[in-house]
Parts: sequence; C-alpha cells; structure tokens
Amino acid sequence: MSGRLSAEASTDWSHAVSAAPQSRTLAPAWLAVPDDANGLVAAVWPASAARDGDGVVTLGGIPVTALRERFGTPLYVIDEDEVRGHARRTLDAFRGAAALHGVQARVYYAGKAFLSTEVVRWVTDEGLAVDVCTGGELAVALAAGAEPARLGFHGNNKSVPELEHAVKVGIGSIVIDSLIEIERLAAIVERRGAIQSVLLRVNSGVHAETHDFLATAHEDQKFGFTLQDAPAAAARIRELPGLDLVGLHCHIGSQIFGTAGFQESAARIVELHAALIDGGDLPVLNLGGGFGIAYTSVDDPTPIEQLAVGIADAVARECAVRGIRMPNLAFEPGRAIVGQAGVTLYEVGTTKPVSLEDGGTRLYVSVDGGMSDNARPALYGAQYSARIASRTSDAAPALARVVGKHCESGDIVVDAEYLPGDIAPGDLLAVPATGAYCFSLASTYNYVPRPPVVAVRGGEARVIVRGETVDDLLARDAGTHVSPGDAPRDDASTEGIV
Ligand code: LLP
Repeated sequence: MSGRLSAEASTDWSHAVSAAPQSRTLAPAWLAVPDDANGLVAAVWPASAARDGDGVVTLGGIPVTALRERFGTPLYVIDEDEVRGHARRTLDAFRGAAALHGVQARVYYAGKAFLSTEVVRWVTDEGLAVDVCTGGELAVALAAGAEPARLGFHGNNKSVPELEHAVKVGIGSIVIDSLIEIERLAAIVERRGAIQSVLLRVNSGVHAETHDFLATAHEDQKFGFTLQDAPAAAARIRELPGLDLVGLHCHIGSQIFGTAGFQESAARIVELHAALIDGGDLPVLNLGGGFGIAYTSVDDPTPIEQLAVGIADAVARECAVRGIRMPNLAFEPGRAIVGQAGVTLYEVGTTKPVSLEDGGTRLYVSVDGGMSDNARPALYGAQYSARIASRTSDAAPALARVVGKHCESGDIVVDAEYLPGDIAPGDLLAVPATGAYCFSLASTYNYVPRPPVVAVRGGEARVIVRGETVDDLLARDAGTHVSPGDAPRDDASTEGIV
C-alpha cells in the first residue's frame, strides 16, 4: 500500500463506474476486462518486471517506489538488460537468416528511437552499428565513442555542415536522398580529397502504414528516389570519383507486424538492384527498420527471427530468379531494440468519473506528465496499457482513461485501460513499452520540464539523462537576463502602451 496519500485514498470508483451503464462506445472493441488488473503482461513489460512481496512493481530488481523516492516522477525508466537482450537477439536473428544464404548481415540501431551515449554504448557493445539522421544524433553517437566507420547517416535534408562533419570524422556510409545531395556531397569529398561510401535511398512504393503493399503507384512522400528515378541518380553517383555507390537503401515504415510488406518491398528493390549491377557491384542492400512491438495485450508482432528469415528468403529468391549474386544485407531497427525496455512512471494527481451523454461514465485518471513525455497517443492515436505499480488492488476494474496535465483535451497517455477502481491520488502508475519514440519526441509544452532517464540493472539505478528543471527552461528566455534598469530595446518600444 506504499506511496498513496492516505487522506485521499478512500475513494473507490469501481462502484460508480462499473455500476453505470457501460456504453459500447466507451471501451474499444479490442480491450477485454482483465482477469487480473494487477497482472504484468509479459509481451509489453521488460522481462525483469515483477511484483515484490508488497505488491510493488520492481524493474531491474528495484521497487518503483524506491525509484520515485530517489528520482521523482514522471520518470523514464530503461532496463539495460532488456535493451542489450533485444540488440543481441536481433543481431543473431538477422545474421542467422543471412548466413542461411551465405551472406552477411549488419544491424544498425536506429538512434532516433532513443538516443543517449549510454544506449549507444550498450548496443555497440552488443555488436550493433548505429544509424543517425541529423548532425545532433551524429554528435551523440560520437560522444559515446562509437566507431565512425560503423555509423550510417541518412535523412532527406542533411545540411552542408552536417555532411562536411560526417565526411571529416570518417563516417561509414551516407544514404543519399536527392540529386542536390549528390552534388553537395561530391563537392565536399572533392574538397577534402576523400572517398565516401554511399547508398541510394529508394522508395519502393510499399506503404506500411496502410499495409497497401501491393500499390503500384509510387509514393507521394519526401524520402528517397522512386524506382523510376533511381537509375539516373545511381548513374550520376557513379560518374563522381569521390562517391562509391555500395548499394540501395529502403525503409517502408514503422511498427509493421507481418513479413508481407517487407517481402514485397524486397522484391521490388532487388529488381532495381539487378538492373543496376550491370554498371558496377552493389555489395550491400539495406532494408531499413520498422519491426513492430507489442504495446497492448492484443498486439501480436511477428517474432524477429521469423521476420529475418522471411525477408532474407525473399531477397534470396528474387536474386535467384534473376540469376544474380545475393548482396550482404543491412537493417536498421530502432523500436524493436528499445521499445519494450522502457517504462514511464507517473504519480496519480486526480481521478474523476465523468458522466457522458449516453449515460455511461468514464473514469479519468490524471497523472503528472502527459503529451510532453509521450506525444505518440496525440500524434498517432497510439495505444498503451497501464498498471498501478505501487500496490496491488482487489477493487473491481474500472474502465479508465489516463490523461496528462497539459492544456489540451488530446493530452492522453492511455486512451482506454481497465484499472482497479480504487485508484487514487498518490498511486504510482506505470506505462510500459515507452522505450521508443517517447524520450525522443518529448517537448516542454506548457513549460513542463522533460523527465530524467534512469537506467536499471541488477538492483542498481543510475541517471543516464538528467531531468530538466524550470530553471533550464527559463535560462533560454532572453528576457530573464535583462535587469530592471536596462534600456528598452529599439524594437521593443513601450510607446503607446498605457
Ligand atoms: N531507418 C529509417 C530510414 C527510418 O526512417 C526509421 C524510422 C528507422 C530506420 C527505424 O524504424 P523503427 O525500427 O524504429 O520502426 N515517431 C514514430 C516513428 C517514426 C519512425 C521514423 N523512422 C513513432 O513514434 O511511432
């Protein structure tokens, strides 16, 4: 029962909420009333997550109540062993699948999912290369001590200084995204007397978000070259002595569950690859990332081993049909490495049952973070799950919506979840599967400082990214450095203000 504010702890909404007519529109069709609203569903929690003798959730062997005491809330918790485990498993899966066809596979961790120097060290330690897409991400990877030759750099609008820096440090490969970039990069490498390995980003026309992978139309989006435009771009690169075209690159989207989209895309890319090798060897084929993870108990992503075999087999088949040698493969998973390793801890601030027009009632549970630490529900309608983490409860589950503290009605953390009806202010609420694209998409909306990131492992916890303070935010406000006696700026005349 630790962590509850005793004066407020007696409110049990389970009667109010479960006695009210349960409108069909309230609970999404996929959400079932759980047998145990305290249970930790294995697919969405890190393997180390458990409840101790007091019912408190432990992560990496540490009770969340101890984490709250030391670091406060909201708090991003990341389980180091979970990240390392996914990194190893993914590398083994792709290497194993490639080896079945006598080729090699390189796995780049897509840093955009969650980038800090510690995470870079964990994944490189496990044998992964790292993919970055801006000068900022490159700086983090380099600050972590990553070998430049094992870094890949993509992005549709890399600036001259970004490219210049990447070439200067000796980056392994740059994924070219436009004709302008070809000339831009060629000028840089010429000036520096360097030779740069490059890949050509190709848009296969397979669109993962809609699963419209049989669409024949080229995609109307900003990344890469269409299948039609790619040959001319490849030819231009090959005219330039400083650029060494080593292969094609393709990424069809993110949070993809099946193999079909990847296979269809691979087939189209291999066709292009086959057409282009007449003009020179292309030893690498990079098929990007996008491998989905479970966010709720009903999500059922394809195991990475199965995906890896399915994709490698598809490439092998397409190469065999065309009588060409299979290239080495490269992949760029982000979410699949870090997603399940992250848990966000919040403290419940208020709860209120809201009566709805149709006679139903929804229990709103407000926590001390929200869309500033997890923009995904607001951006993509992403679904998450939640558990009271500071205790267990026998109260009947009530359908709840977990919301943040921001001034937007779309500030939703968990759209629909059954939580024990006695949930109360002071309870710690844990949202699992927040390791990918939560920290990286965080904002300071409403001047809510971004939370710290704490890594847990073997009963130890340490801050790997410190939390922001309001002072940090105020330090950027130029007005706070003006002392009262300073003369007003020319463009800030007070004339006319009464
Ligand atoms: N490679 C490229 C070229 C990419 O653009 C991406 C993701 C990845 C690899 C890694 O994809 P992953 O394995 O993590 O799915 N903010 C969105 C996801 C954006 C993904 C952007 N690119 C979200 O929160 O779902």
